Amino acid sequence: MTMVILNHSRTRFSSNLSAKCSQFLQRRWKNSAEWLNRQHSDPYVRRAKMENYRCRSAFKLLEMDERFKFLTPGKTVIDCGAAPGSWTQVAVTKVNANGKDSRAPKGKVLSIDRLPFYPVDGAIIFPLSDFTTKETQTAVKEALQNEKVDIVMSDIAPNVTGLKDVNHDLIIKLVYTVIRFALPVTKPGGICLVKLWDGNKTSAVETDLQRFYKKVRRVKPKASRSDSTEVYLLASDFLGIKT
Ligand SMILES: C[S@@+](CC[C@H](N)C(=O)[O-])C[C@H]1O[C@@H](n2cnc3c(N)ncnc32)[C@H](O)[C@@H]1O
Repeated sequence: MTMVILNHSRTRFSSNLSAKCSQFLQRRWKNSAEWLNRQHSDPYVRRAKMENYRCRSAFKLLEMDERFKFLTPGKTVIDCGAAPGSWTQVAVTKVNANGKDSRAPKGKVLSIDRLPFYPVDGAIIFPLSDFTTKETQTAVKEALQNEKVDIVMSDIAPNVTGLKDVNHDLIIKLVYTVIRFALPVTKPGGICLVKLWDGNKTSAVETDLQRFYKKVRRVKPKASRSDSTEVYLLASDFLGIKT
């Protein structure tokens, strides 16, 4: 388990990261010509390059935050399935985890992925850390030093199989891991944002979240490809549990 507290400059890594991000996504595509075509014609890929985000996924979080305004200065955020790091980049800026705005409260971002990923200035990262393990969850809790968090967000995605139902089941399992982690560490009023691939268990997850959060919304950001079953559940106003 490696925990890195970041002080590095983002620019030092940016060109490498762009390549890494592409490799990372390309692995999911059997047909690389098709993948290249889609990458080249995708406006979010171009914007990500221009705005120095590691991945187009940044725009999904930016859009959800634009609509629901949950990432504000001073907040503490856990980012599960964070590599290559674009959600972490967004969160660090929004919660002022890098302290760039000296007049605003400073937040905190803790980012976990089972893959290696480059530091993001202002974030505490846990690369090579499987979030489903007790070891990783204990390390994250230790880094929190008993502080509760405002937002647990998960863009975790398992390796896909050729079978839609199996993929759905795999991601649902990860979603429940995130929810089970979130409940005892979240402040009342907090947020849980989880990505899943829609299927027959989506409603059950919504119902389970409704037991603990006042409002649960199903969100499909514009940046989420229309041909994907990807959908986000945004559970807000955590009611709190006795721990
Ligand atoms: C879609 S990517 C996340 C992209 C990220 N939100 C961003 O904006 O850069 C999904 C990530 O989930 C990670 N993941 C899958 N299973 C995991 C696990 N058990 N523990 C930690 N990370 C996991 C993958 O390694 C992958 O990096």
